[in-house]
Amino acid sequence: MAGNWKMYKTPAETRAFFEKFRPLVQDAADRQIVICPPFTNLAAAVEAAAGSRIEIGAQDLFWMKEGAYTGEVSGPMLAALGCRWVIVGHSERRQYFGETDETVLKKTVAALDAGLTPIVCVGERLEEREAGRTEAVLLEQFRIGISGLTPEQFARIVIAYEPVWAIGTGRTATPEVAAAAHRFLRAQARERYGEQAAARLRILYGGSVKPDNIKGLMAQEEIDGVLVGGASLDPLSFAAIVLY
Ligand code: 13P
Repeated sequence: MAGNWKMYKTPAETRAFFEKFRPLVQDAADRQIVICPPFTNLAAAVEAAAGSRIEIGAQDLFWMKEGAYTGEVSGPMLAALGCRWVIVGHSERRQYFGETDETVLKKTVAALDAGLTPIVCVGERLEEREAGRTEAVLLEQFRIGISGLTPEQFARIVIAYEPVWAIGTGRTATPEVAAAAHRFLRAQARERYGEQAAARLRILYGGSVKPDNIKGLMAQEEIDGVLVGGASLDPLSFAAIVLY
């Protein structure tokens, strides 16, 4: 159950979140919980989550380890800070910051090299869905952004299916629509990496996940978890999602 805070909260607000959120989820032994705050809050989040079951991730990384890349942050830097996870190729990065399937693959490999678990995001835009191109888009994203990974690398990633039309719109994919996309992605994984790797792959759904729709989504066998934006900013609503 992962939260993507996007560009929200200060370090003080981060500490206040954890103070409320930690006790709410401390008994949830069967849940893996990840929170991805902005870079500027990672240190505060790692500290505030220490000794709890909550793990911390970043929202992006650069693929080089170090160098003259003003403004960028590398995988080893995130790992040194205590991050365990990193989101790669979120649709907002693709839309506003020019990320492509090619850069997604480079960043995924860089994350793995740094010992981080990448949450690799894929998903179609509204016009692509309406044109009946959902599977073609997912196939392309998988073929270029993911299938270049070795089997060993693939075994260590998590995929997030986030239909762009469902992000921040209040328009969730129905559990059935999400499950169909997950099934398609898993079929690609099976074809490229084999039955066992596909069965082990965890696919998260993201896009307007809320406390009142989490049960229906998680009831789908194909949906292994969720990547939550807006509803992860509030400790009560994110706890309600985590504990659904
Ligand atoms: P919302 O939950 O706010 O729709 O955002 C989803 C998302 O983009 C998570 O990465």
